[in-house]
Amino acid sequence: MNRKTVFLVAISVCLVFRLAECFDYREEDLASEERLWDLYERWRSHHTVSRSLTDKQQRFNVFKQNLEHIHRANQQDRPYKLKLNRFADMTNHEFMQHYGGSKVSHYRQLHGPRRTTSFMHENTTDLPSSVDWRKNGAVTGIKNQGKCGSCWAFSSVAAVEGINKIKTGQLVSLSEQELVDCNSDNHGCDGGLMEQAFKFIEQIGGITTENNYPYRAKDESCDSSKMNAPAVIIDGYEMVPESDESALMKAVANQPIAIAMDAELNHGVALVGYGATVDGTKYWIVKNSWGTDWGEKGYIRMQRDIDAQEGLCGLTLEASYPVKLNSDNKKAQNRKDEL
Ligand SMILES: *[C@@H]1O[C@H](CO)[C@@H](O)[C@H](O)[C@H]1NC(C)=O
Repeated sequence: MNRKTVFLVAISVCLVFRLAECFDYREEDLASEERLWDLYERWRSHHTVSRSLTDKQQRFNVFKQNLEHIHRANQQDRPYKLKLNRFADMTNHEFMQHYGGSKVSHYRQLHGPRRTTSFMHENTTDLPSSVDWRKNGAVTGIKNQGKCGSCWAFSSVAAVEGINKIKTGQLVSLSEQELVDCNSDNHGCDGGLMEQAFKFIEQIGGITTENNYPYRAKDESCDSSKMNAPAVIIDGYEMVPESDESALMKAVANQPIAIAMDAELNHGVALVGYGATVDGTKYWIVKNSWGTDWGEKGYIRMQRDIDAQEGLCGLTLEASYPVKLNSDNKKAQNRKDEL
């Protein structure tokens, strides 16, 4: 296996999610404390991370421990390699506080169990061996949620952008901030559920564009004048039957899907395709919202068809997608007026 290019997450340690990325270290960087400091300084300058003098020793300690973890993982024969990303001097606890996000299991408990819905893609046959919605122009550029637990908004928006492109032929970047500010069944920067975002978009008669209601990475009051300018409407949402990777393949073959990683992070992301490497390792293509310098230019491939019903990091457990029956987005205003 080509370990340089294959960047596949293959283990159940879903924390890998925060460690996989693009600043390389060499064996000799680990040789002495002095060299480690040197590496830390180069890493800080690469990622433009500034730390106060008083903070630095502690940050360096964390960095060293994360580096040890990465190095140990890289010495094992796994189908991926870890690198140092811009989160490398944060503890897991700090990271989860700032960047974790959808808290799906938490809100699932508060809002009641997962609904079962009909599954419009159940009879999809002749699944292609690979799907990549990016190649069909149905995926906007990688976005960055910043220090706000709004991944649930990015995940659901990516799925709506996808089905809108598929139904209308147009790729329009849509507003996460509208969901963060206005979707009161969800919890803004404190997390949320993707299906509630879809329900909200359906009920208010559409979601507006990123341009009209730009992302600010913090909770603000809802600007209802912007809510009155919906760009894309949806007709509802459905859940993909859980613990079933083949159902998930059928769904992804039809449109990008919102999923949660049911690991410690409770992170919401979007599935935008699937495929297999030349040596036959099957993977899902996951769009994250942590900027382009994370993972593989903002994406990550997660191993597919694994020996566990819930899928890697539980990715089959909370999959959902917006239903959009036709290309009509103009009805949005009328629907709103009728409410
Ligand atoms: C799938 O096929 C079965 C059997 O023909 C049918 O009963 C069911 O309604 C179909 N499902 C959908 C979503 O079309």
